[in-house]
Amino acid sequence: MDRKESFIENPGQFEKIEQILLDLIPSLPEAKEFCKLTLPNGEEFQLPILKGTNGPPMIDIRSLHDKTGYFTFDPGYTCTGSCSSQITFIDGDKGILRYRGYPIEKLAEICSFEETCYLLLYGELPSRKDLEIFCEAMKDEMLIHEQLISFYKGFQKGAHPMAILVGVVGALSAFMHDGLDLKNKVEREKTAIKLVSKFPMISALAYRTAMGLPIIYPKRNLTYTQNFLYMMYCDKTDIENYKVDEFLADVLDKILVLHADHEQNASTATVRIAGSSIANPYACIAAGIASLWGPAHGGANEAVLDMLEKIGSIENIPKFIEDVKAKRDGVRLMGFGHRVYKNYDPRANLMRDLCHKVLDYLEVKSDPFMKMAVELERIALSDEYFIKRKLYPNVDFYSGIVLNAIGIPKSMFTVIFALARSIGWIAQWREMISESVIRIGRPRQLYVGYDRREVKSVGSRLDTFENKSDIKQRSNRRRFSVTKP
Ligand code: CMC
Repeated sequence: MDRKESFIENPGQFEKIEQILLDLIPSLPEAKEFCKLTLPNGEEFQLPILKGTNGPPMIDIRSLHDKTGYFTFDPGYTCTGSCSSQITFIDGDKGILRYRGYPIEKLAEICSFEETCYLLLYGELPSRKDLEIFCEAMKDEMLIHEQLISFYKGFQKGAHPMAILVGVVGALSAFMHDGLDLKNKVEREKTAIKLVSKFPMISALAYRTAMGLPIIYPKRNLTYTQNFLYMMYCDKTDIENYKVDEFLADVLDKILVLHADHEQNASTATVRIAGSSIANPYACIAAGIASLWGPAHGGANEAVLDMLEKIGSIENIPKFIEDVKAKRDGVRLMGFGHRVYKNYDPRANLMRDLCHKVLDYLEVKSDPFMKMAVELERIALSDEYFIKRKLYPNVDFYSGIVLNAIGIPKSMFTVIFALARSIGWIAQWREMISESVIRIGRPRQLYVGYDRREVKSVGSRLDTFENKSDIKQRSNRRRFSVTKP
């Protein structure tokens, strides 16, 4: 196929998708209902109610402060919508996850990661011809700049691959900043495709740097996932004979599909907030990677394996569960619970099935991690503590076990999450940046510090660390309690 057909390089081709991109800009529904807010002084205000295609209705509070002088208080955004989007829908009570309307179960069954990328970017699943053109466009961009490769040399062997990933993706902005016009749709398209296409090489190199291994370059005849595995594992001294295991590559591909997007989670919200100041998109994605790394978010897959290693064997599970329930040292059952899913995480079920398939394929009769995970799940699902709080296994509970069985080192689990989520982040960034009005992300706060104070001259101030009784007094004075309603 003629590589110049790629829609990045061929303006004619690009014009064809321009209309599609216009349709992908989310528009707000018109409010048909209103609710009434009564203030302590008895004044009443009407607030519009917005209804999306699916999901709970939302009270539109954009004019609240102007009309009433009040703000809303919602730390952790537990019930605050920050944008409208056409990309992903989750119903946490019913355990539903859909990309552009398509159920995750079906996408994971029949679609490749490349097809999923196309769907997230262009709103429809690709025809065979669309897919070919798209894959070629991605392959044109899969190499990274040679000077960026030198950047890796600054990291010491043993550095965590996620630390390397944050640094290198942030550094991409230095290679693609000058001349990047974010108002230009073609430029935005190029940015999206470049980021996702370069991610396998960037991620595999993070691993090879951490292991002190030489670089392997991608191959044009391999798929996205095969290329990642090839660049991670190929023996530099035996490149010709290295064969990617197609079954395991297919499993990893499904894992990527399952992680590709998840609407406004912590890392995606981070990318959107960073992007709302019209910052360099690669730098915004680096911010998203940093947010993903935490064990409460994407770092949970690594934390699950740490937890299983620490528990050690099935006999120690009851004691561990007791510690979790007693919140001893803040210990949590990692891979359990979710802000949105309060029934089950559909990705967790699919991941458990994948786990069994991989263990069967590898003829592993009894995987100690799998045995412990199944027992933990059995106990947790019948225990009042977990039932009352609606805590169910999430995607990360079994993903670490599958990745471990495939032979992926623990420190790479979250990198693989990032590899998959790169498409979600950039699709969400592009959706935000294509809106006609971009409002900078700027939450409010409830200030509970000192009221106005006089500034004393340096000679008349108290010693901060010596006068302990004063410190205690000061911290007592500052402590307000913000109770749950
Ligand atoms: N183990 C034990 N108790 C838990 C857990 C857990 N994994 N998760 C929540 N709780 C308890 C928590 O202590 C609290 O109890 P109480 O009402 O007595 O104070 C209650 O459940 C509500 O917890 P929360 O922290 O207010 O819930 P949240 O919606 O803010 O947090 C979460 C969601 C995912 C951060 C949390 O469930 C958690 O820390 N889970 C473990 C880490 C994990 O697996 N994260 C991966 C999430 S899925 C991948 C992704 O998309 O990021």
